[in-house]
Amino acid sequence: MKPLIFAHHSSSQLVSSFAEKVNGEITHVESHDFPDGESYLRVEQNCFGRTAIIIADLHQPNAKVLPLIFLCETLKELKIATIILVAPYLPYMRQDKQFQPGEGVTSRYFAKILSQHVDKLITIDPHLHRYNSLDEIYSIPSIVLHTTAYIAQWIKESVNKPLIIGPDSESEQWAAATANIINCPFIILQKERFGDRDVQVSPPEASCYKDHTPVLIDDIISTGKTMIKTAEALKEDGLNAPVCIGVHALFSGEAFNEMQQANIKDIVTCSTVSH
Ligand code: R5P
Repeated sequence: MKPLIFAHHSSSQLVSSFAEKVNGEITHVESHDFPDGESYLRVEQNCFGRTAIIIADLHQPNAKVLPLIFLCETLKELKIATIILVAPYLPYMRQDKQFQPGEGVTSRYFAKILSQHVDKLITIDPHLHRYNSLDEIYSIPSIVLHTTAYIAQWIKESVNKPLIIGPDSESEQWAAATANIINCPFIILQKERFGDRDVQVSPPEASCYKDHTPVLIDDIISTGKTMIKTAEALKEDGLNAPVCIGVHALFSGEAFNEMQQANIKDIVTCSTVSH
């Protein structure tokens, strides 16, 4: 039996190419928001004994998660055999410890919620910093896919004399792995965060790479401030304007416009988030 493919806020292009690759059947969910904001949903398809694959764009998760839970529970009511959640971007991974007394460690709570409703999770480059693996917080099996090889291939084909730069210690895993594949130099900077939009990046001290093209690699671009501040620091050091690569481009608020106006040559992202 073909798996049933459900789209949850994901682009129709992604869903149809995915369905084609796994020979799945794209399945419509009738949904409606009542005037009071509560949701109605109906799945007409016969689900008995089938596998459901839900492809979900979970960027801006709060409004999307309750309807996702309702979908999962409806499918279980209809006797689906297995629910696989494909979430190319896995949110709520950055609050991975209590930084201040009294804070909620939301990565754990979010993992607990998803683990109660789906049977398996497939995602791409989740923000694993203080956790070594999703198994530390998710009680369901998960598969983690990586973008490094694709990013490295793109850099090889498109960038002259790349110098890979990780703007903070958390980005080292992506920056170092990419530089190793390309066999090019890389440096990791230190970042201090003072607020959502307030970051400071250590001077790169990389003036010996003035003939290179800096390539900034980070897993997430949210406000874009990490990229913008790093690009400014490179300029002060006399380096070329960088190419900025983000796996998950959230582009919060005016981030994309602000990055376009900054000392940045190109902005390149993977298509884990629709925009
Ligand atoms: C940090 O933990 C992440 O890896 C990114 O560096 C961060 O999310 C970037 O945020 P922003 O674009 O708001 O500076």
